[in-house]
Amino acid sequence: MQTKPSISSSTAPAQTAIEVEVNGEKHALTVEPRLLLAHMLRERLGLTGTHIGCDTSSCGACTVLLEGKSVKSCTVLAVQADGRAVTTIEGIGTSRSLHPMQEAFWAEHGLQCGYCTTGMIMASLDLIARNPDPSDEQIREGLGGNICRCTGYHNIVRAVKAAAKAVKK
Ligand code: FES
Ligand code: FES
Repeated sequence: MQTKPSISSSTAPAQTAIEVEVNGEKHALTVEPRLLLAHMLRERLGLTGTHIGCDTSSCGACTVLLEGKSVKSCTVLAVQADGRAVTTIEGIGTSRSLHPMQEAFWAEHGLQCGYCTTGMIMASLDLIARNPDPSDEQIREGLGGNICRCTGYHNIVRAVKAAAKAVKK
């Protein structure tokens, strides 16, 4: 007599344990291997300053720093951040004490709706860390992966120049 093959009743997706330092705070998490860093930050840690615009690595709204380098967090898996340090917009300043880059975007009117702004700021921080005195052209090239639907970019370029000066002082 034939016996039926047994079918596992468990359909739960696999989980992986990771440890990530976000804005200086260590987090031990269990995540699905397919979970994107952007979703981990927003949905698991409540850090909604990282925005999702396209989910396809085109707009840059989700840019964060991974070990100090800007990455589009919709293109990075949470498991790739295991054992590494992530910085989001929440980690660089507060509403009472803005980071010079945030101050410059505000002072130079580098934002309108603000949706792209957190990604622009994180990408700009990486840019001025690599090039402390960027030209307009270098700023435009450095932010080529970040799309803004509102500002026309002129004020964003001015903001990054002003911040570069302020940080150098
Ligand atoms: S949401 Fe990541 S690049 Fe657009
Ligand atoms: S300020 Fe609105 S998309 Fe950039």
